[in-house]
Amino acid sequence: MPEKIPYELLRAAASAARNAYAPYSNFAVGAALQTSDGSVFAGANMENASYGLTVCAEVGALQAASTAGKLADVVRIGIAGGNLRADKCDGEIVTPCGRCRQLILESARLGSRDIEVWCANLDLSSIKCFKISELLPHGFGPDNLVKIKIQTGIEAETVHSGRR
Ligand code: THU
Repeated sequence: MPEKIPYELLRAAASAARNAYAPYSNFAVGAALQTSDGSVFAGANMENASYGLTVCAEVGALQAASTAGKLADVVRIGIAGGNLRADKCDGEIVTPCGRCRQLILESARLGSRDIEVWCANLDLSSIKCFKISELLPHGFGPDNLVKIKIQTGIEAETVHSGRR
């Protein structure tokens, strides 16, 4: 692992998981991210009777950071989760789903840094650290849109606003 384990951040993630609304899967996930000024933003998964509208824990945490104007300042994110019905915690860590990897990559590219993604099970007995570049290699990010703009000659403002 590249760095000292951020236990406080992972405990914040595990604590958020306790507030997960996951009555359909019984799988609770919490995420807590840290920005360069030391702020922490947390989220927990929120399921829905129409299943497909489930919101992941990481989305909640990233959305909170974004609302505070700090999406470009995310340094690391801790994710902790597991099955609430299991009588004891297994060693299985939770890694972010594909959509969440894309959202973390957006934040990383905005801040020009490679975000650390600390993945854990609910009792933090298993912890593994990845970089978002490892979890989503060759990802498509905001910088790619700028390249497209250069190639096509369409102005960046047009690309970002979606106006033609
Ligand atoms: N889940 C997350 O919150 N984050 C992930 O990265 C993986 C999956 C949630 C969604 C759903 O509520 C439950 O875990 C089972 O998939």
